[in-house]
Amino acid sequence: MRVAIIGTGYVGLTTGVCLGFIGHSVSCLDTDYSKIAALRAGEIPIYEPNLSDLLEEARPNLRFTSSYAEAIPDAEVVFIAVGTPPTPSGAPNLEYLSQAARCIGQHMNGDFTVVVNKSTVPIGSGNWVDSLLRESYEQRHGTKSADFAVASNPEFLREGSALHDSLYPDRIVIGADESRALELLYSLYRPILDQTFNAPTYLPRPDWVSAIPLVSTDLASAELIKYAANAFLALKISFINEIGLLAERVGANISEVARGIGLDSRIGSRFLNAGIGWGGSCFGKDTAALVATAGEYGLSMPIVEAARKINCRQRDRVVEKLLHELKILKGRTIGILGLAFKPNTDDLREAPSVEIVQKLVDRGVRVKVHDPIALDRFQREHGAMSVQSCKTVEEVVEGCDALVLVTEWNEYRDLDWETLAAKMRCPVVLDGRHALDREKLTRAGYQYLTLA
Ligand code: UGA
Repeated sequence: MRVAIIGTGYVGLTTGVCLGFIGHSVSCLDTDYSKIAALRAGEIPIYEPNLSDLLEEARPNLRFTSSYAEAIPDAEVVFIAVGTPPTPSGAPNLEYLSQAARCIGQHMNGDFTVVVNKSTVPIGSGNWVDSLLRESYEQRHGTKSADFAVASNPEFLREGSALHDSLYPDRIVIGADESRALELLYSLYRPILDQTFNAPTYLPRPDWVSAIPLVSTDLASAELIKYAANAFLALKISFINEIGLLAERVGANISEVARGIGLDSRIGSRFLNAGIGWGGSCFGKDTAALVATAGEYGLSMPIVEAARKINCRQRDRVVEKLLHELKILKGRTIGILGLAFKPNTDDLREAPSVEIVQKLVDRGVRVKVHDPIALDRFQREHGAMSVQSCKTVEEVVEGCDALVLVTEWNEYRDLDWETLAAKMRCPVVLDGRHALDREKLTRAGYQYLTLA
């Protein structure tokens, strides 16, 4: 099938590459010409494991362009995957979405087209995009009526494992109020639904994956599924962090508690890792948007709001723990291990590290930071924070009064902790992710701390 994808961020680019890989002819469009030029030259503007390998395999089916006139007229399916960044009120900024919808409307050729919202958009956006498309199509083509349908196909991929999540998803959700749209999207996703594509060697099909469930529903339900899914995952993390606080007071081990409840299949063991809490461009933005949408209907969402508060509290607790341990923070040197909002990405949007570093700097701490991938980006985006960027962990630990593990990159687990301890002024480690081996570190002479 002929597909156009508007936006080459995490969602758009991953979707484009995966659809190209399973055999569709895909035009990836971005109005940022520098991104398109880079992609044409084989450079990937984001850090995502295996994306460049899959892009090379899919390349014969991919085109990169900045021109709507090139991408839209022939496309049977057009995905909108533009950013919807948060505004101060919590409601997402829909400017890019509206621009994309208008440009698509102007360039549709009159043959039946399905326009799909892939970006996370507020409930009701499907109808709004429908009206924008109709309006701009009519402005361009006069009275001739447009033949299109709007669908919602929310994305559940996680940064860092985006390709895996796209090729082997837990489910595919498609929402539309017109059956023609549902049928077209069903055909588009058939190779993934039936798992008939040849798995790439570097992304082997997991043993447990066979046919992928399809949830085919109406527009509003699909839109709400996305928000509800992210809110629930955020809630799970905040729930375990709330229990963690109590676990600390009663002397219980939160990792054991998480394992003990997670093995109940009704609860499930994933997203119960206690610690610093969530960051990234999704959970914060989407929980805020959900609360804002509910507000428009005169509803409050106390559970989601509580999850957000608990997540903020976890970041304060890092400072409280260090203060409790070191008694005085002013003038101390503290090392931060990990800046990205989670491992395997260089994304710093709403990364807990940024807030924690700021809180420490505000208290007069000399902060040294390290990240295997996101260090340069941190310097570019947060260079004003006057911290010392270190290329190696050895450089960070030199003269440190404490280390805080903020992002659980694998390589931090296997460090030579004994040798590092000797270089610290005071071997204290606050493991913000329950990622390190408590016994090993204690044996190596560390005061090993967790948030719970
Ligand atoms: C999240 C969802 O997991 C995806 O399903 C969704 O498609 C995506 O948002 C989106 O809306 O675009 P992502 O933000 O990439 O994906 O990252 P996650 O792996 O979900 O992690 C989010 C944050 O939660 C990270 O900061 C991570 O460290 C934290 N986390 C995760 C915990 O603190 N504890 C856990 O047990 C799990």
